[in-house]
Amino acid sequence: MKKIIPLVGICFLFLNLNAQKYDQLAKTPPMGWNSWNKFGCNVSETLIMGMADAMVSSGMKDAGYEYIVIDDCWQVSRDENGQIIPDKDRFPHGIKYLADYVHSKGLKFGIYSCAGTLTCAGRPAGCGHEYQDALSYARWGVDYLKYDWCNTGTQDPKASYSIMRDGLFAAKRPIVFSICEWGSNKPWEWAGQIGHLWRTTGDISDTWNSMIEIFSQQKDLARYAGPGHWNDPDMLEVGNGGMTTEEYKAHFSLWCMLAAPLIAGNDLQNMTPDTKSILVNKEIIAIDQDSLGRQGVCWRDNEDYQIWMKVLANNEKAICLLNKSDEKKSVLVDFALLAKASTMRWGPPSQLKLENFTVRDLWDHKDLVLKESSMYIDLLPHSVKVYRFIKK
Ligand code: GAL
Repeated sequence: MKKIIPLVGICFLFLNLNAQKYDQLAKTPPMGWNSWNKFGCNVSETLIMGMADAMVSSGMKDAGYEYIVIDDCWQVSRDENGQIIPDKDRFPHGIKYLADYVHSKGLKFGIYSCAGTLTCAGRPAGCGHEYQDALSYARWGVDYLKYDWCNTGTQDPKASYSIMRDGLFAAKRPIVFSICEWGSNKPWEWAGQIGHLWRTTGDISDTWNSMIEIFSQQKDLARYAGPGHWNDPDMLEVGNGGMTTEEYKAHFSLWCMLAAPLIAGNDLQNMTPDTKSILVNKEIIAIDQDSLGRQGVCWRDNEDYQIWMKVLANNEKAICLLNKSDEKKSVLVDFALLAKASTMRWGPPSQLKLENFTVRDLWDHKDLVLKESSMYIDLLPHSVKVYRFIKK
């Protein structure tokens, strides 16, 4: 009996050491670029290198974007030892070469695989090869892994994602683990111990309706997010052409209010000035990247018109007015009430007073001049206004 107890203890310790994610990563929502939304399977070494270059030259790196992620279709087969083989025509120098290039730009490198037998595009996936693939990723210098959920049959999501988490941990390279299970099995309830972010819905497409529908599905998920574990309402469509500039501003602002990962999905080498100015709006990005890591909540819901609130560090807050309708709106906004308002549904209002704050419009980049505490604000159709209450 005496001999058994220490043995059990050692096994427990061993399991415990391996059953963990790298927990010093993604303290704020990850920011980067991913190939899927714009390029689908049309990925190559030249494309990825070009995006890394453009991330630097466009000012996106300076604005905080960090990861360059190749999505599906970089892989073609496995060799006789089960090692994953990249597409040699499209990635002639292999993946490590690409990762090294991305690193040489001061950026980080991400890759995609899937928990099933095949990826969603039918390429070889991770099932049964988790530890082996994790070692390849670590050897190549991968910093971020997006792990999908196609062709998983009867696999249990929590168990499947845990195996890959353990594989990554055993490979001894800190890799952000992005769970892409589309919210099918409520990952917000279990994924925080496994990954650093988890998709909460199916795929976004480049339309106002798709974006706003996905946004509305985030409403009850705020309590699950925080530093190191984020809800992921999918990648950005900003700049892909299917929405107006106002709609893209709204899309970007809403993702920032949600403390969502900001993974651009457009062609960084060919951006209009409008697209660029949205993606590098540092004042809006600061809302997303706030160190407190609180996801915003819907504070007032009048169907077509909503007020969202995100608590920030240092007792500051961000307010987003959202006009979902196809009509212009003029709304009377009580800024004194908003200064006091708390995100706790049943809690007492805070003691915060409007006179202690400067209210800054984060798209106009101007402080509001408030003659009275209430003011009419005009909202274009499908648009937002975002304000930050900054301590004086
Ligand atoms: C989907 C995933 C997309 C993209 C695609 C690749 O399941 O949600 O973001 O990765 O697979 O095939």
